[in-house]
Amino acid sequence: MLKGMSNNLFRKTPIAQLLAASVFTGLMLSSAVAVSAEAPGKTLSEKIGLPWPAVIAHRGASFDAPEETIPAYTVARELGADYLEMDIQRTKDGVLIALHDDTLVRTTNVAEVFPARAKDPVSTFTLAELKQLDAGSWFNKAYPDRARASYAGLQILTLDEVIDIAEGGSNKPGLYIETKVPAQFPGIEADLKKNLEKRGWLTSRPAADAGHVNVAHMPGRVVLQTFEKPSLELLQQEMPQVPKVLLLWIGEGSIEPKSNVAFKDSGFKDKASYYGAQEVKSEAEFAAWMDWAKAHGAIGTGPSTKLTHGGDQSYMDLVKPWMNKMAHDKGLVVHPYTVDDEVDFKKVSDDGVDGFFTNRASELLKFYGRPAKESMDAILKRNGY
Ligand code: G3P
Ligand code: CA
Repeated sequence: MLKGMSNNLFRKTPIAQLLAASVFTGLMLSSAVAVSAEAPGKTLSEKIGLPWPAVIAHRGASFDAPEETIPAYTVARELGADYLEMDIQRTKDGVLIALHDDTLVRTTNVAEVFPARAKDPVSTFTLAELKQLDAGSWFNKAYPDRARASYAGLQILTLDEVIDIAEGGSNKPGLYIETKVPAQFPGIEADLKKNLEKRGWLTSRPAADAGHVNVAHMPGRVVLQTFEKPSLELLQQEMPQVPKVLLLWIGEGSIEPKSNVAFKDSGFKDKASYYGAQEVKSEAEFAAWMDWAKAHGAIGTGPSTKLTHGGDQSYMDLVKPWMNKMAHDKGLVVHPYTVDDEVDFKKVSDDGVDGFFTNRASELLKFYGRPAKESMDAILKRNGY
C-alpha cells in the first residue's frame, strides 16, 4: 500500500514532515531504503528545506528521452521527481539555455546545419541559430530501443522554457541548476539571479495540491551547483539565501589525486576503469574541500560515483562511508551523481547519502517506495510523444 503513496503528500508543513518521518520510519523498515530517523543528512535536509531523500532528474528523464528537452523534463515532472536538473550556458545574444556539452556535436545536427561551425562553442551561437537545430534525433540513433519518431526535431530549451515545464503540471518540482563551464560566461551567475527573480523563484511560491510534488514551495526550491570554486563564490554573492552544492571530482582544479598518472599512461582501457581507480590524496585533502565548500556558502556536496556496471557516467568513488560521514559531521548534505541502477542505489544509500542525481527518476522513485502512478509509455503518449 505504501509503495503507491507519494511522500510529497507530507511535505507541506514541518509538523506534517515530522509525522511523515515517523510514519515512514515505522512502516518502511523492510523497504529497500532504510529511512532512519537518525540519518544525519535527513535532519540537515529538513533544516535547509530540501526534500529527503532527493530524486534529482539529471538532464530530465534522460534515459528515456533526449536530455534537457521538453519530453525529458515533462516526463521527470510527471513521474514525480523532486528536481529538474539542468546545465546552464549562455547564447551569443545573452539568453540562458539548458545544455550539457560546451559544443553542439554530440546532441544536435549542427554538422549539417552549420558545417563550418560544428565544433565551435555554444557561446558563439545566437538563440535563433540554436533553435534551428534538431536536439532529438541523435538520441534515436544512439538508443534505438528507446527511440520515438516524435523525438526528431526537438529543440534546445531556454531556462525560461524549462521553468515553464516545472510550473506547468500538478507536480511542482524544484530546479537544480548547474553553471556549466562558467569561466566561458562571465557574469552568468548574475544573469541567473535576474532570470530566477523575474520568474518568482527566489521568493515563496504557491503550494501544490495535496498528493503532488511540492518542492517548488519549499525553501530549497532552487539548488545551485557547480564544479568551479569561483562560480560558487559568485553564486553565493548573488544569491546568498539559495542553497548551493559544490560538485566534487578528482583532478586538475579539483581534489588532488593520490597518484598523478594520466589516462593515456595508466594502462586502463576505458575511462570508467581509470576513474574508478582514482583516490583522493588524503583525508586531509578531502576535508579541506569540505571546509572550503562550507565556508563559501555550500549546504552540500555533489560527489561522483563509481558505478557497478561502469559506463560513461561511472567516475571516481567519492561516496565512501568515511567521506559521507565527514560531510555530514561538517553539516553538509550529500547528493551523488549520476546513479541509475538499483544495485548502486542500494550500495550507495547504505553508505549514507541524501538522494541521487539520476537519469532514471522512474527507477529511483521505485527504490524509494514512491513509484510513479503512470508508466513511462503512458506519460510519453499522454504528452504527445
Ligand atoms: O550536476 C551533477 C552532474 O550533472 C555533474 O555531471 O557532467 O552530468 O553535469 P554532469
Ligand atoms: Ca549537471
